[in-house]
This record gives sequence, structure tokens and C-alpha cells, in this order.
Amino acid sequence: MNTEKSKKAFDEAKKYIPGGVNSPVRAFKNVGTYPLFIARAKGSKIYDIDGNEFIDFVGSWGPMFLGHAKECITEAVRTAAENGLSFGAPCAAETELAKLITELVPCIDVVRMVNSGTEATMSALRLARGYTGRNIIVKFEGCYHGHSDSLLIKAGSGAATFGSASSAGVPEDFAKYTLVLPYNDIDSLTKAFNKMGNEIAAVIVEPVAGNMGVVPPADGFLQAIRRLTAEYGSLFIADEVMTGFRLSPSGALGLYGIDADIVTFGKIIGGGMPVGAYGGKRDIMEFVSPSGPVYQAGTLSGNPLAMAAGLAQLQCICRHTNIYDEIEKKGAYLESEFKSAAERNGIPVRVNRVGSMISVFFTDNDVIDFKTASACDTERFKLYFNEMINRGIYLAPSQFESLFLSDAHTDSDLEKTVQAFGEVMSIIKKIVV
Ligand SMILES: Cc1ncc(COP(=O)(O)O)c(C=O)c1O
Repeated sequence: MNTEKSKKAFDEAKKYIPGGVNSPVRAFKNVGTYPLFIARAKGSKIYDIDGNEFIDFVGSWGPMFLGHAKECITEAVRTAAENGLSFGAPCAAETELAKLITELVPCIDVVRMVNSGTEATMSALRLARGYTGRNIIVKFEGCYHGHSDSLLIKAGSGAATFGSASSAGVPEDFAKYTLVLPYNDIDSLTKAFNKMGNEIAAVIVEPVAGNMGVVPPADGFLQAIRRLTAEYGSLFIADEVMTGFRLSPSGALGLYGIDADIVTFGKIIGGGMPVGAYGGKRDIMEFVSPSGPVYQAGTLSGNPLAMAAGLAQLQCICRHTNIYDEIEKKGAYLESEFKSAAERNGIPVRVNRVGSMISVFFTDNDVIDFKTASACDTERFKLYFNEMINRGIYLAPSQFESLFLSDAHTDSDLEKTVQAFGEVMSIIKKIVV
């Protein structure tokens, strides 16, 4: 495959942009190559600037649930653009989108729009701290909630010790307020609450983790978070930036039958535009300014184009009543074909899947948390990624990400993907032997 133009474009970008990209994973460092520069995308396909076509399983890291350049969304954005790009004043689409979110997610009465998932989780933490008058946040190792200071904290040396900053530039003092626990470990969560429950402002969690690869919640894990936060007067923040409107009309919470106190969104609710949101019960959300004392604001928040795109995407999802069943079938097909191709070739893998989120882990062990995810063979993943892309299958360039299915993926796309997967497994087998 000729990707010379992308190579040149990347060299040029590196002169003017740190590492040549505006978000680190895009640099393809984990897979030992350079990124493809994308010229356009339509439906399930993306096209790079060298003219290569790929079946896209990244979907802009999740937002493109209906596929690229979906007419109902591009039309809504075009119409909105003709009426002005930004007002910095209220517009009706903000209320419409907020109202639709409250109708779909039962534990939400009130929603505040922001511009990214990072802004949503950062604001949710401030709200939780303002509402409870406490400082400590509990997060789980391997969950990613954006790049705000309180959340760029990695685990400390023991399960119940405070973490340390995972990025330069984050004051170590921030780590004093963030307790990082193993995902799916009800015991360590219970111990943490027994020890300091009255100081914990909130527990934030990806209800299905997607940022260490896909890791579903163990039986009782989300229920334990719900029970302990309620018992100790802390808040349960469900970070549904990735899973919101992807796993069910009411996200992962709907799928598992759980209510949270604050829910954060991004990705799908923007239809491909930069949007985030956080919402919850009225008494909590009334703490947000200008109703309450927790300050949070945004020049472009509730931008009319972004609202139009998000609203169009959610309305389209709501009209298409069996969309989740259809995507579930596609996911189940890929999961079972991936498993059998790997087995046929004697390649140890674990395929974790919840609905349209799938990860193929190169390991012999069940992947249930960050420790087990980290034990995967990333060299083998690298080979797998590069061979798949050579066959026109565009996957996330890291072992620790999800593959995202969309409504636009056709049976033929999936068959081609399964065919490529089988070929790649037999290549890996030859190299291993
Ligand atoms: C679960 C989760 N929360 C928060 C974020 C941050 O969102 P953004 O990249 O829009 O800032 C992400 C991004 O991937 C995410 O997956």
C-alpha cells in the first residue's frame, strides 16, 4: 500500500505541531509507524490522502455511531451554519438536546453542555466536591476520563494508597486527593470506604471500561459503587463519554440497570462536533453556576452547530428503534469469528465485547482489569494492527483501545474484516512457529 503522501504530511506536521498531532494516540507510536492523513470519510469508510480506502473501526474514537457524513447530520449542520456559527447566547437547540438526554437517561433531570469529554468530567468532579464539601475522588486504574489534573493520576504502590501524577506538569499535591483502585475490585473499594468514606466526594468510573481495551464490569461492581456511595453520602459519577448512547439508549447505566448521581457525556452526543455534557438530579445540578456556587462556563458551550449535529444524531438513533439489536448482532458475529480464527491458528487471544465495543487482547488470561490488560503481548498487537491496515481494515493503533462498530458497517464490511483477521492470524502463527 502506498502511503507516501501521509508520510510527507506527517513530516510537515511535526514541524509545526507537537509530535505532529493534536492528540497523542493519533501519532501511531504504539504500532511503530506513522499516521495516515485522512482526506474524507463516508459511511463505514475512510479515505487517506494517498487515495487508499479503509473500513473504519475507529469512528473518530466513538462519535460516529451512525457512520461518517450521515445525511441527517450534515443537513442539520448545513442549515444551522446558514443561520450563524456562534452566538454566545442561548439557542433553542441547547434546550432540545438537553431535554432529549433527560428523556433517554432516567437519572438525569438537568444537563449542562460543555465542549469535550475532558471538560465534562473535570466539571463533574468540581460539582461533586462543591456539593459534598469533600475533596477525595476515587478512580480506577486503567480508566481514562480526559486530561484534567485530578484525573491524570496513576495508582500508588498499595491498593488503598493515594496515587502519583501520571503526567509532568501535574502538581504532586493533586495526587493527595485522588485514590486509584483496581477496576472490578469490590473488596478494595469497600475497604477504602470503610477507612475514609466520609471524606470521599465521588467515585468516577467508566461503567464499561474502554480505555484499557474493553473490560466489562464484573458482577456486582457497579452495584457496589452505587451502594457504598449512597451509604457514605458520596456521589457516583458514571463517565459515559464513550458508552453513552452507544451501549443502549440510556448508555451502560441502562444496560446494567444502575442509576448514577452525575453522568458525563461526549462523543456521540456531538454527532462528530466537539461536545461534552454532564447531568444529574436537579438538587445536585442546581449547585452549578449561575444557579449555585460551583463555577463553570464556556464561550462556545452549546454552540448551535454542535447542538444541531448532536440532536440530529440522537433523533436519528431514536427513530431507528432496533438499531441496538442490529449492532449487537454485528458485534456477536465479529466476536465469534475472531475467536474461532484465532483458535484455528493456535493464537491465544481474549475477545472482550459489550455491544458495539470490542477488544482483541493477545493473551492467555482473562482481561478483567488494568493489570491483566497490561500483561498482553503488545508486539503481537503491533503486527496484527499493521497487517490489518495493509488489508484495508483501520483499527485503533493501540492494544488498549476499543474497536467501534457503527450502524453503517455492512455485512460485506464485516465479512471482509473476518477474512482479513483470518489471514493475519495465519501470518502470526507462521511467525510464532
Ligand atoms: C471515558 C472517557 N472519558 C473522557 C474522555 C475525554 O474526552 P475528550 O477526549 O473529548 O476530552 C474520553 C476520551 O476518550 C473517554 O473515553
